[in-house]
Amino acid sequence: MKVLIIGSGGRESCLAWKINKSPLVEGIFCAPGNGGTAAIATNVDIAANDLQALVKFAKDKNIDLTVVGPEVPLVKGIVDAFHKEKLTIFGPSADLARLEGSKIFAKQLMQMFSIPTADFKIFNDAQAAKNYVAQRSMPLVIKADGLAAGKGVVVAHSKQQATAAIDKIMTYKAFGDSGKQIIIEDCLLGEEASMLAFTDGETILPLATSQDHKPIFAGDKGPNTGGMGAYSPAPIVNQQLYQQVSEEVFKPLVEGLAAEGKKYKGILYAGLMINQDKPYVLEFNVRFGDPETQAVLPRLKTDIVEVMLACCQQRLSTINLDWDQRHCVCVVLASGGYPGKYEKGKLININEKIKSDPDILLFHAGTKKNIDNHSGKEQVVTNGGRVLNVVALGDNLAQAQKKVYQQINNISFPGMYYREDIGFRALD
Ligand code: AMP
Ligand code: GLY
Repeated sequence: MKVLIIGSGGRESCLAWKINKSPLVEGIFCAPGNGGTAAIATNVDIAANDLQALVKFAKDKNIDLTVVGPEVPLVKGIVDAFHKEKLTIFGPSADLARLEGSKIFAKQLMQMFSIPTADFKIFNDAQAAKNYVAQRSMPLVIKADGLAAGKGVVVAHSKQQATAAIDKIMTYKAFGDSGKQIIIEDCLLGEEASMLAFTDGETILPLATSQDHKPIFAGDKGPNTGGMGAYSPAPIVNQQLYQQVSEEVFKPLVEGLAAEGKKYKGILYAGLMINQDKPYVLEFNVRFGDPETQAVLPRLKTDIVEVMLACCQQRLSTINLDWDQRHCVCVVLASGGYPGKYEKGKLININEKIKSDPDILLFHAGTKKNIDNHSGKEQVVTNGGRVLNVVALGDNLAQAQKKVYQQINNISFPGMYYREDIGFRALD
């Protein structure tokens, strides 16, 4: 089989690594890929949101399975465009990708199917939103309805912060049309965790749990990033909670949609707040998480290509997921300055020693291959905010964490920054 992976981050590197393990696969293409995917796949210079070019490429190369990493092509309708050409692609249609593309759509479905989530109100007028804030006690959460590259949510602790967020989104249109409407929701307290599930629209197979670390600094301080690390399993989601999320979140959603004739196929990602042993949904995503994927897939023993094909062909009931019982930690190495301004093109040094341990994995994210002007040799340089993901498996979380930080000593680039406490909530 020939597989096309769309995207260029650490998630896509990890997907390429896992897909490459499948005996069904004889060739992988990544559009556009990164400096790491180039080692196991052919990088193709097509942007992840250039739907027309991707369809043409898949047709010309007779691609057997396309796997979509990021949300934008899904929300833009890449699955529908591929289906029109009878191409097999893993992911939901544009109609159902609205679960991530419109927070209002997601909230209304949650309400309809009685899925636990924070109470909310919808606004399409900035003044009405501000009047509502004036009457309510803080904190409140302000969310742009549409996609905003992870920046459209503000947890406002004061009325000024809430008003500023409303203005930024609705009056100054910081996220364009994504901010035409907003929701204001009650702020939930507790600990966050991520749970993902494969589904073919009928059968639901939840994956192992994980926890992301969004803020830039240790102890979850500072501004949010695209994720500074993750670990799996996340013990906050105990067996009972795992069952509860399966029964009270995934099942009513997938079955509720199916009852309306809408079969959700692909990955469903539930971002959860766990409060007093009860799960509440913060958001749905319609794709794998980044960096959660890099901590979860190294633990999956089952052939992921078999699972993805079963989702596409609606025979997921024939599949079981088999897990490595060890713990996995992923630490993101970032460019100095990220998530604010940072420089690119810094030479990355990776000591060969890192490759000798089978329980250590290195997934590239913001990297690219270059030819050095002086020596003419190939080198890898930084090309984004989140540069590399270092991953370790261990018999327990503490051991995996120790291993991952030991290995990071083998990697350097100017300005390299990483959090030194990935996994702290489960270890404290
Ligand atoms: P979202 O994109 O909706 O997941 O929001 C991004 C982040 O904002 C989440 O990971 C939470 O940290 C925070 N957040 C979102 N909604 C709420 C809420 N209702 N209560 C508390 N925090 C929230
Ligand atoms: N790790 C958060 C996300 O993928 O949206």
